[in-house]
Amino acid sequence: SADKPLAGKRVIVTSGPTHEPIDPVRYLANRSSGKQGHAIAAAAAAAGAQVTLVSGPVSIPDPQGVTTIHVETAREMLAAVEETLPADIAICAAAVADWRPDSEGAQKMKKEGNKQAPELSLVENPDILRTLAQHHTLRPTLVVGFAAETETVVDHARAKLERKGCDLIVANDVSHATGIMGGDHNTVHLVSPADVESWEDMPKTEVAARLVARIAEILKAHR
Ligand code: C5P
Repeated sequence: SADKPLAGKRVIVTSGPTHEPIDPVRYLANRSSGKQGHAIAAAAAAAGAQVTLVSGPVSIPDPQGVTTIHVETAREMLAAVEETLPADIAICAAAVADWRPDSEGAQKMKKEGNKQAPELSLVENPDILRTLAQHHTLRPTLVVGFAAETETVVDHARAKLERKGCDLIVANDVSHATGIMGGDHNTVHLVSPADVESWEDMPKTEVAARLVARIAEILKAHR
């Protein structure tokens, strides 16, 4: 129906940062708040979808009407996403750590008795968006990614679209230190293989509602 354009659809949303352990008390992370991803999960639920939100560590509440799975690391996020498949739509809004320390120390690293600062050696994390977009058996009908870009936003987003194999990239222009990360507003460009839609700056909740409406249209046009 018009007010529930995603009725009966299964949607997976990833949100927030990941925490990659260095030792039992330390981790690598980033400044993602989860606000945009959580707002998308809530908007998809409001549009009638059955939503699973896979969230890294955030300080905001679980959205209402959504099944939320809490994870810490990229590998846990991927496992939770794969366990949630099949889905009609996947929206990867999480700021997944690209790298993790190659092994988590079993004990806290100590300053005492160590002359030299420790070296962190990093290995690449799995790419959740790419895994979904290139899934051999359970690829969601629509796979949507995000991109935080500082220059030639649309060109970079289009290259990312091809590299990952997804259907749509929501590119945030983060060039002017506009406070997008952690803030309540977002300026986005929707980049698909065929075209670009640039939206004015608006609250993340409104980006979420409009994005869900656009995704419902694209899904409908898809069959
Ligand atoms: O190029 P980059 O990896 O930064 O692309 C960002 C997009 O890829 C976002 O949608 C993000 O959620 C997704 N991503 C992911 N797993 C990773 C890295 C990025 O799902 N390990």
